[in-house]
Amino acid sequence: MNDLRHLMSPMDFSTEELENLFDVAVDIENNMSKYAHMCDDKILATCFYEPSTRTRLSFETAMLRLGGKVIGFADASNSSASKGESVADTIRVISCFADICAMRHPKEGAPMVAADHSLIPVINAGDGGHQHPTQTLTDLLTIRNLHGNLHNFTIGLCGDLKFGRTVHSLINALSRYTGITFIFISPNELRIPDYITDMLKHKNIPYREVIRLEDVMPELDFLYMTRVQKERFFNEEDYIRLKDFYILDKAKIQLAKENMYVLHPLPRVNEISVEIDNDKRAAYFKQVQNGLYVRMALILTLLDMTKSHINHNLLKEY
Ligand code: NCD
Repeated sequence: MNDLRHLMSPMDFSTEELENLFDVAVDIENNMSKYAHMCDDKILATCFYEPSTRTRLSFETAMLRLGGKVIGFADASNSSASKGESVADTIRVISCFADICAMRHPKEGAPMVAADHSLIPVINAGDGGHQHPTQTLTDLLTIRNLHGNLHNFTIGLCGDLKFGRTVHSLINALSRYTGITFIFISPNELRIPDYITDMLKHKNIPYREVIRLEDVMPELDFLYMTRVQKERFFNEEDYIRLKDFYILDKAKIQLAKENMYVLHPLPRVNEISVEIDNDKRAAYFKQVQNGLYVRMALILTLLDMTKSHINHNLLKEY
């Protein structure tokens, strides 16, 4: 029995714990230098069995900004997985070297297997089409900053709702807040999975499914655009047919409220035209910045280093 904490799904934290985490993230944004040596003697391992640019670099930057160091691999072919080592053995080995591990894996559930065998906190940095909890923390922090809280808004999720793990994680996490209406905008082939709509029905949370983005644009407070997940398609032809189904451009955004915000987990392919980047409603690069603060706050939380720090600050301030 150990009291290690991992992050496999955003639901692993209560909403109160998330509020604390977001408060730390906001404090980091405003007082970065205060945190610069908090992890001076700590090592983060990034074990990425699947390609990633921003998530891996965001984790690594988070640890470096906390004063810590980073080890790891960015490609399974550079690890002993290519020799047939199991995830369970890899994490036992990593536990001997590092203090905390962020793991991305193409197989759903692989980071959970790692967590079960780990002596250090494991963060799920994306497992197949399943969950991507740190992107969700990033999305929640961004919504909270822009809207003031996480209640009472209409969010449209658009694009690949079938394979997009960021979408699945975000809907799950938002289902714990009140007054949220979901509008799912996708072609029939990429509809949101039934297990998610079943969960919403069960919790009496309002949602609609539509095909045309233009039809619902004026209602939205947030529009969460996603890329069609090429790597999860079985057949290239289907991907080519669906990849440009939605392109958010100036004409379409004109239908939106002035205070609507566009989010995207990135990478973007064609689904948001670059002409939108300078629109005041484009929040996706701010999201990337928030991802750094929230990962810094998460590392501190899982290493159980936030309480002493916050108390210390309170003592300093009052
Ligand atoms: C997302 C992912 O990996 O699922 N990207 C990310 O982490 N920022 C979204 C995507 O790849 O489309």
